[in-house]
This record gives sequence, C-alpha cells and structure tokens, in this order.
Amino acid sequence: MKVVVLSGSPHKNGTTAKLVDSFIKGAKEAGHEVVRFDTAFMNIHPCIACNKCQETDGSACVFDDDMVKIGDELATSDCIVYATPVYYYGICAQLKTVIDRYYGIEQKIRRGQKTFFITAMSDDKKTEAINASYLAFVDWLEWNDAGILNAMECSVPEDLDKTDYVEQAYKMGLSI
Ligand SMILES: Cc1cc2nc3c(=O)[nH]c(=O)nc-3n(C[C@H](O)[C@H](O)[C@H](O)COP(=O)(O)O)c2cc1C
Repeated sequence: MKVVVLSGSPHKNGTTAKLVDSFIKGAKEAGHEVVRFDTAFMNIHPCIACNKCQETDGSACVFDDDMVKIGDELATSDCIVYATPVYYYGICAQLKTVIDRYYGIEQKIRRGQKTFFITAMSDDKKTEAINASYLAFVDWLEWNDAGILNAMECSVPEDLDKTDYVEQAYKMGLSI
C-alpha cells in the first residue's frame, strides 16, 4: 500500500514528529511505501475561495505551489495519515491549509482511502471538536477512518516518555 503522511507541526523534532516517526516505522515494517510531507515547511497558499477550480474541471487552482506535489501523491494513495498538534481545540493551520486546498482536487483524491488521525496536545481532555472535524471531512471525501490517537498531556516530546503513545503510534502503522 502507498501511505501518504501529512504532518502539520512546525517542530521538526517535536511531539507530533515523534509520533509520526513511530507510525512510519510500523508502516514500513509492515511493508508499506511511505511518502511524508511536513506541511509547515512547504509553500502552500491558503484557499482564497475564488472558485476558479469549480468553474473549470475542478483541477485548475490559481496557485501553482507545493499543493500540486501533495495532490499527485494523494491521487495514487491507499492510506492517508493526518498528524497535528492541537491548536485551540482544532487542527493546526499548517495542516488545515492543505485540507482547504482539497476544494480544487476532490474528484482526483476521493479514492476510498483508509485514514488515520494523530494529535499531540497539552490537555487531558477536550478532543471532541478536533476529532469531529477530522471525521467530518473524512466522511465528506468518502474515506474510511481506521484509527485516532490523541496523545493527551503531552506538551513537549519528553512527556511522551511517560506514556505508551509512541508504542500506540507504532502499532497503528503496523496495523495498516
Ligand atoms: C498556538 C498553540 C495552541 C495550542 N492549543 C492547544 C489546545 O487547544 N489544546 C491543547 O491541549 N494543547 C494546545 N497547545 C499545546 C500543543 O498542542 C502541544 O504542546 C503539542 O505537544 C505540540 O506539539 P509539537 O511539538 O508537535 O508542536 C497549543 C500550542 C500552541 C503553540
């Protein structure tokens, strides 16, 4: 299977990255091909709702940026992983920007993929809003949620060491 990982954290060695690394380790051990994008370090313009993509065949976005690369990989993917630090109860802007740009490429990326959701957060509760947001766009795109991991009470990567979240992420990757 081809697995596309979209990670939004601006911390290259942060909490989210540690979980993502572990997920990928499991996925690779299970024999899958993994393509990873760290969206915080890419050139991706936010959707400006100009509707140009809707007026044509749904693929002609006015921005020619790194979203083209991501879209091409999603169009041939079997599994997509969304990883984000929780920002104000939601998906971080660096990842949400990518999701909003699906507006122009929905037909191309709606392929019944399996999806996973990984979050890192300081709080020990209040995951309802972010999980509901993820499940809603997964449903809209006719994808299939295969698992959610909310790493709670993890403000910094070292906090993960007191938990089994890294192991859980590894097992998720292995389970694809
Ligand atoms: C702008 C901002 C907003 C945040 N909002 C929340 C929040 O709503 N809930 C929460 O539990 N943690 C919140 N946090 C904490 C981060 O989610 C947490 O520290 C996470 O581990 C950071 O992951 P990273 O190392 O991958 O950046 C916030 C952090 C930042 C910088």
